[in-house]
This record gives sequence, structure tokens and C-alpha cells, in this order.
Amino acid sequence: MKLLRSVSGRFPFNLPSSFIILQISSLIPYIHFFVISSANRQSLLAAIGRRHFAVSADDYAKRNYANNVSEYNTVIGSLTSQRRNWLLRDVYDDMMLDGVKPEKDTFRSLIAGSMKGVRLQDCFFFRDQMKSMGLIPDVVLYNFMISTCGKCKNSTEATRIFEEMKKLEVKPNGQTFICLINACAAAGRVDQVYAIIRDMTAAGLGLNKFCYAGLIAAHKNKTPLAADTSAKVKILELVEQSKGWSSLEQTRDSAENVMMGISEEELYNIPTANYIHRRGGFVLRFLTVYHVAFQACADLKDVQAVDALQEMLKKGNNNPDVFILIQIMRCYLNSGDIDRGLKVFEDYMNSGSPPMGELYTTLIEGAMVGYTPKGMEIALDKLKEMNSRRFNLLPATGNALLLVASGEKTGGYTIANMVWDLMQARNIVPSLPAVQAYYNGLKDREIPEDDPRLVVVSSTLDNLRVRFGRGPGQFGDRR
Ligand SMILES: *[C@@H]1O[C@H](CO)[C@@H](O)[C@H](O)[C@H]1NC(C)=O
Ligand SMILES: *[C@@H]1O[C@H](CO)[C@@H](O)[C@H](O)[C@H]1NC(C)=O
Repeated sequence: MKLLRSVSGRFPFNLPSSFIILQISSLIPYIHFFVISSANRQSLLAAIGRRHFAVSADDYAKRNYANNVSEYNTVIGSLTSQRRNWLLRDVYDDMMLDGVKPEKDTFRSLIAGSMKGVRLQDCFFFRDQMKSMGLIPDVVLYNFMISTCGKCKNSTEATRIFEEMKKLEVKPNGQTFICLINACAAAGRVDQVYAIIRDMTAAGLGLNKFCYAGLIAAHKNKTPLAADTSAKVKILELVEQSKGWSSLEQTRDSAENVMMGISEEELYNIPTANYIHRRGGFVLRFLTVYHVAFQACADLKDVQAVDALQEMLKKGNNNPDVFILIQIMRCYLNSGDIDRGLKVFEDYMNSGSPPMGELYTTLIEGAMVGYTPKGMEIALDKLKEMNSRRFNLLPATGNALLLVASGEKTGGYTIANMVWDLMQARNIVPSLPAVQAYYNGLKDREIPEDDPRLVVVSSTLDNLRVRFGRGPGQFGDRR
């Protein structure tokens, strides 16, 4: 079983009240997932595994749901695809309690799931468990671990794992080197990235687009960022050089990673990883080097570099995809050029291509930079248009917009109020910093204490503070 038996004290299956907040200290960051109404229980259960859990909640506690290793493997796969990665340790503990011996494949799923959940300590735990059972992780698993270090920007651990591979005589493959490059790049370790590339070349491996992506990211993430324009010059140079990458070294997702639903973009932490399954020309995968370069230059707010990149793209007879357009808009808007930002948006909308919610939210967020009257007008206009076109706010975007809109010092606070209302309508749990900022803005506007909006915002804020275990006053409270 006992995924469920052992967590019955934590999962609200048998508990009567309709709202239950689970209190496990290690789960605090995820606590909002655990506010489960009774109506949602069945769907949560169903989500974990329909075959096993199509039973009433009462039957649950009595039954065993995973009796053997193949059933456990199914449960692990389901939890991973549901992004409930933090439960993998529980499943594993239950397996041990049951005396079920994990297979190599079980560990493969556990470590892949921990990578997807960016849980470095869990990766290490499962690796140690494997070793204690006399199993040596293979190169695929080591690649997952190095990738997880990259997601945590921890190049020291990534290098340590690479050394461990050598010691255990696990032969690295091309993907290992690229995982390592991108892990060092995430931490801005330019010298290390070049050293790995030298090793790769010495080993007869050619560079592919993901190596160039890593080099670009390394220059962007380097701290302190060179005060001169050298990062930008380097980035443009690298994009130019990448055009010569050997076609013999075409990358492809390895069969094993395809089976586990892991793309190369995800493995190497390329910024498009979350978008590659989107349709409508959102991401053209062969433009990886451009994706990383545009994003880097947008982060650096370097309009000249972004313009130069657009020229290079055009010379290569390529049109920007939606991901690139978003970076171009971000760059213009964040450097205060609302007109050009707006023009990118309008050109796209007039081109007959499918409208995309992300283009709206990028424009809205960027137009609010500096809170100029014109920018705020455009932001409000586009927010209304987006809503009337039935693009829903995603939780992360809603919170980002609320946070920025709440910084408006003058004016009617219309955008902040509207974003708040849209989030409420969609039952989006606001983030603590966003609510705090919104609350502060409302208080500054001298509205009556019993104003219905203020009352709701204030109680939401109090609830969040209790949930996150913080007393009042830690977030610039001005009550
Ligand atoms: C595992 O248990 C399930 C249900 O008890 C059973 O149907 C299945 O055949 C078992 N699989 C193995 C490999 O023993
Ligand atoms: C890297 O990971 C190790 C082990 O988890 C940790 O001790 C160390 O502080 C981390 N370093 C950084 C820079 O995050």
C-alpha cells in the first residue's frame, strides 16, 4: 500500500472538516496545494491513479494500493506527471515499510521525478539508496543529477557528481558534458564552461547548439557582469559562430528520455523548456541559440544587441517565433520604449497569427514600467482586451502583474483592482508579496476601513501570513 496508509495522517482523506491545511514543515512551500475541499478529494484521488483509486474515500484507508514493485512504479510515474514530486520520498519510505525491493527502473523514475521537481537532496538520497543496494547509477541517471544541480545553479555539486562518475567508471556521453556546461553556465562560471568545451573537443565530440546556448548563458550570468559591453559582444559573436556547428552533431532526444517525457531543453535548462509543446509557432526548436541570446540581451536591457540579433535572424531568412517576440518586447519595454514594444505586439496581431496570452501579459507588465500615464493607459486597455478575448491569467502571471500594478502611487489603482478581481474570479491563490503590495497600495488611498475590497484583501493577507508562519510587520506592513 501504503502510500495512502502512511500518509493518512497527512492527507485529508478521512477527516471531516471541509478545509484542511496540512502542516508538514518540509511541505511549507507547497502548502497551497494542500488546501483541499472535500469536493476535490475524489478528483485528487483520481488524479493519483485512476485504476487504483476509483473507490470511495472510506474504502481507501482499508485497502492496499501498491502491492508490488510494478504497481509502485506506476504510482511514481503518476505522481511525477501530476508534479507532486515532493511525495516521492514518502512513496519510497512506504515501499521500504512494505518490504518491496525497488528495481533499477524504480530508481530511474524516482530520480527523474526529483529532477523535474528540482529536488537536489532527494536525488542524492535516491542515489545513496541505490548504491547501498549495490546498484550503480548509469549515465542517464548521472545526467539527471547534473541537470538538477544546474536547475539549482549549483556548479560545485555538478562538478562533484561528474568526478564521482569518473571514479565509478561510468562513461560520460555527449549529454553529460552538455548538462555540465549548462550547470556551470547557470552559475556564471565562464572559465569552467570553456574548460569543459576543451575536454569535449579533445574527446572528439563536436559542439552543438546547446553548447553555444551554455556559453551565452555563462556570459550573461557572470558576476560581476563586465561593466563594458563585452558580454553583449561575446553573445553576438557566439550566435555568429554557432551557425557553423557541425551537422554531424545533430542533437536528438535520447530514446530513454523521450520515454520519460524529458526533452533536451528540459535536461539542459534551456529557457524554452516550458513552451516546446505549445502550438502555433510558439517555439521553433532549431532557433535555440537565438532563444538564449535574445533572452540574455533582454535581461541586460540591451536594445542595440536585440536589434543586432534581429538583423542576424533576418539575414539567415528566419522569422522570430513567439518566444523571441516576447524577449524583444521585454527589452524595449523595460528600457522605457513603449512605442516599439507596442509595435511588436501590434505587428504580430495584424499578421493573422494566433493571438497568445503571453504576448498580452508581457505587454501589460512592461507597459507599467515607470507608471507613465501613457503606459498605464495601454496596460489597462490590453488587460481589458485580453479578458474579453477570454485569455485566462495563469497564477504566476497574475501574481507578477498584481505585484507590478500595486506599485502605482498615483492614479485610480484601476489595473491593480482589475487584476485582483480576475485572480479572485479564477480562485488563484495570490502570493504573499503580491497581496502585501496590493494591500499597502489600498491603505495609501485612504479608503474606509470597512470597504468590502479592503476587508477581503486584509483577511487574505492575514491567512497567508498564518500559513507561512510569519507574524505581521515583516513585509513593510503599514497598518
Ligand atoms: C502486482 O499486483 C497486482 C494486483 O495485486 C497484480 O494484478 C499484478 O499482476 C502484480 N504484478 C506482478 C508483477 O506481480
Ligand atoms: C550546493 O549544494 C550543496 C549540497 O546540497 C550545498 O551544501 C551548497 O551550499 C550548494 N551551493 C550553492 C552555491 O547553492
